[in-house]
Amino acid sequence: MPTPIGLAAGFDKDCNVLRSLLNLGFGFVSGGTITLASRPGNPKPRVIRLPNEKALINSMGFPGRGLEPAIKRLQRTQGLKERILVSIAGTIEDEIFDCFHRVQSLAAGVELNISSPNTAGLRIFHETGRLRGLIEGLAAEKTVPLFVKLPPWSRGDADRREILKLAETAIDAGVDGLIVANTRPIESNQLKVGRGGLSGEPLFENTELMIADVQAMTNGDIGIIACGGISTSKQVWKLLASGASAIQLYTSFIYEGPGLPARLNKGLVRLMDAAGIASIDDISGEPPNIK
Ligand SMILES: Cc1cc2nc3c(=O)[nH]c(=O)nc-3n(C[C@H](O)[C@H](O)[C@H](O)COP(=O)(O)O)c2cc1C
Repeated sequence: MPTPIGLAAGFDKDCNVLRSLLNLGFGFVSGGTITLASRPGNPKPRVIRLPNEKALINSMGFPGRGLEPAIKRLQRTQGLKERILVSIAGTIEDEIFDCFHRVQSLAAGVELNISSPNTAGLRIFHETGRLRGLIEGLAAEKTVPLFVKLPPWSRGDADRREILKLAETAIDAGVDGLIVANTRPIESNQLKVGRGGLSGEPLFENTELMIADVQAMTNGDIGIIACGGISTSKQVWKLLASGASAIQLYTSFIYEGPGLPARLNKGLVRLMDAAGIASIDDISGEPPNIK
């Protein structure tokens, strides 16, 4: 990939504009999350902006046209396939297998989304036995790297041990990488369904801690994609230095606009120049102190 800065899943759910998004300067983009059948998603209002915090709360619930239209779109971006991941989800194994079989030949990798807080039914894959069975089945048939997107946790959080156990199970069952992480569950009476997922700036600090947790657990054996609250090239540096192989963002793109990926790429190159390094593999420690 030309840069380690990617667009996270959920922006282009039906894979309609992946080419244009790549042209803005993202190194890679994730289409989806795709589900087998079309879905209306949750009732509106289902996205609210918190501009002072540069954050969003969403309860989208996977609105989308379903697998078939997405396949047709993906077939048109095959020249860029090496820079496209596809996110899939379902509430039973068969749905996920059907999506997986159809999309894997059309993308560089597949993200399995078990972590949207907005879709009743996904939590069944937070049961380690069920997750193991699913991933072992997918891993046996995969021809491209398979990633699992985890729900977030924080230090002192009762869920932390449970989610790290899920990560361990996923690795043991054969995934190639982890995406750390999805939105943070939160209540909001401004959303029709009363709760959703928080994204954007407030997540960043915890993203760093989660990457440290996962890095300590995996020792660099698998790919880690960091996601949550990233909006500056110094933050990209910090996460790459902590063990992530790439990053994804979404909410900062909403607030900063289409120039953001190009600005982040330039910023990262400036930091690397200031540190005298030529490869992102050599990024370590704190970013150089330049403006
Ligand atoms: C409106 C909205 C829709 C999202 N839809 C999806 C989705 O379909 N699949 C998914 O894996 N993540 C989805 N996400 C989560 C993002 O991919 C990302 O994990 C999260 O927003 C944290 O990154 P950020 O702080 O850079 O936004 C969505 C996020 C937002 C704000």
